[in-house]
Amino acid sequence: MSGSPSTRIFELRDSAALQVWREELSESARVGFVPTMGALHEGHGSLVKKAIEECDVALVSIFVNPLQFNESGDLEAYPRTESEDCHLLQSWGAHAVYLPTPTDMYPEAEVQKVGAGPIGNRLEGAARPGHFSGMLTVVRRLFERVHPHCAYFGQKDAQQLFLVREMCEEAGLKIDIRACPTVREHDGLAMSSRNRRLTSSDREKAGALFQAMTQANRALLSGTSELSALEDQVHSFLQKHGFEVEYAKVVDDQTFDAPSPGSLLRIVLAARLGNVRLIDNMLLGKEP
Ligand code: PAF
Repeated sequence: MSGSPSTRIFELRDSAALQVWREELSESARVGFVPTMGALHEGHGSLVKKAIEECDVALVSIFVNPLQFNESGDLEAYPRTESEDCHLLQSWGAHAVYLPTPTDMYPEAEVQKVGAGPIGNRLEGAARPGHFSGMLTVVRRLFERVHPHCAYFGQKDAQQLFLVREMCEEAGLKIDIRACPTVREHDGLAMSSRNRRLTSSDREKAGALFQAMTQANRALLSGTSELSALEDQVHSFLQKHGFEVEYAKVVDDQTFDAPSPGSLLRIVLAARLGNVRLIDNMLLGKEP
């Protein structure tokens, strides 16, 4: 099956429709899956295009998962743009979109959540208690319904990607978790559904997030070895540019734990501009 934009995308509105669609695929068809919460942009587009390139069929889910929001205001403010999303998916050549309702996703009165483990309680997990457990719960459920061969995640959510891989390993799920590079705007701001909530003056400031990480990388390449000094530098640069910083941390890229000598390093950060919370990360020690 080729992902031709002229072929009408299948809209699967509940898990029964998903199951019928999945069972009708030939047994040899490789299924590429892109889980999303909608409000799609070119970052999602790159995941969908990769799934089309590497698999026979590309399925995308759109579900704003209430379990992973720790602030109800954030859940309510999350953009919902279903018909634009379906048009975009059609134009990218996705084969099917799964659009479950909350009751289809969670029919039971009390949902048994997937634990996020110690790394799930650090950084994003510490800033947003319960977030990763909610995220893993929906991803696990989606994987069990979709049975994908490959699933595509953006590097922008590096800790999420790490935890999804860890969950698959622990649960023995044989799914190839594919990491795709962060897609950035002209000023380096990582594409995110949240960006559309920035005021125009905050949007002008937002590129400083990328500049801060680029400066940290340059400092490391030119010999700075004190990681806490690097973190402090990023912190004060962002504060100076109007951000309220939640964390700016250098971690071991392979474990998401504190780095030890020889670790591959990644800087991860979360900061607010007004009431919009942005996250980003960058592998350090490589020439840009
Ligand atoms: O990255 C996201 O958009 C969400 O966390 C995901 C993976 C779709 C689960 O709700």
